[in-house]
Amino acid sequence: MKREILTMLRKDGTYVSGQQLCERLGVSRTAVWKAINALKAEGYEIGAVQNKGYCLLQAPDVLTEAEIGSRRTDRWKDAPLVVYAETDSTNNQARRLAQEGNPEGTLVVADRQTRGKGRRGRVWETPASAGIAMSFVLKPEIAPQDASQLTILAALASLRAVQDVSGADCAIKWPNDLVLNRRKLCGILTEMNLEEDYIQQIIVGIGFNVHHEAFPESLADKATSLYLETGQKYSRAEIVCRVMQHFAEYYEQFLTQRNLAFVREEYNHFLISRGESVRVLGVGQEWSGRSLGINDTGSLLVETEDGEIREVLAGEVSVRGLYSYA
Ligand code: BTN
Repeated sequence: MKREILTMLRKDGTYVSGQQLCERLGVSRTAVWKAINALKAEGYEIGAVQNKGYCLLQAPDVLTEAEIGSRRTDRWKDAPLVVYAETDSTNNQARRLAQEGNPEGTLVVADRQTRGKGRRGRVWETPASAGIAMSFVLKPEIAPQDASQLTILAALASLRAVQDVSGADCAIKWPNDLVLNRRKLCGILTEMNLEEDYIQQIIVGIGFNVHHEAFPESLADKATSLYLETGQKYSRAEIVCRVMQHFAEYYEQFLTQRNLAFVREEYNHFLISRGESVRVLGVGQEWSGRSLGINDTGSLLVETEDGEIREVLAGEVSVRGLYSYA
């Protein structure tokens, strides 16, 4: 019921009477009053004026089903939403839900992860109240080799979400890290389950560093948070919802166009080191060239010193700036 109340208060943006809440929710005035009090206890500032009703003045930065659910506007807003104060990995939970038959758009969010997974078997830390761990389920009818293109879209959606809330001048480190001042702000791990050659589900997992005030020494020169870069605090729930909104829009276009031509220019605009020299690190080999941006399928085009243009596939190599992580 908290979610419905917040949805109504947010939708109207002005006063909603107790009577209206009771009627639309089909509950008693006492039940509404209790739910409003519970929301206040969670940190919501809700104004109440006689003969006018309730109005939402301020929402706390919490990751809860009510806070996230009441802000959703995307096409999957009615799909299952599971929010944990703590879980092992939202990717694991989303995969489990998908395998249990939950539909595309099912979203899992956690305030804290105890066994968050990064790419290449690395660990991803999501300390309580500081970051966002979110994963959603996709069930596209596409060839498995095209799935990495969804990660490119997730990177763009994440960048747009961060821009919306903070105006921060983010960049993308190919294929899917978001960076701010050449430090990593957000990482994406896309996992796919196949049966024969058919995609059962894809889990897109996104981790944001939002309110971190410091990082362990080993990460200090590579990682950053929105707070460290802008000095401001943000609504993490709003970031989650904006990611879903942007991703759903990109995804719809992707499913009709089946490649990334429609976002190529946009993505390349935000690509860090474009036009600059980069190092390409593959298994047992390393070479340098000039980054030209992605092609229509998300591979990075790199021009070698003798003018050859090579197509670098995501997942096979990592690309670095000449002097730093990004
Ligand atoms: C990377 O190595 O850059 C990818 C990090 C991905 C982390 C996110 S947090 C939400 C989701 N759950 C996980 O266990 N990992 C991803």
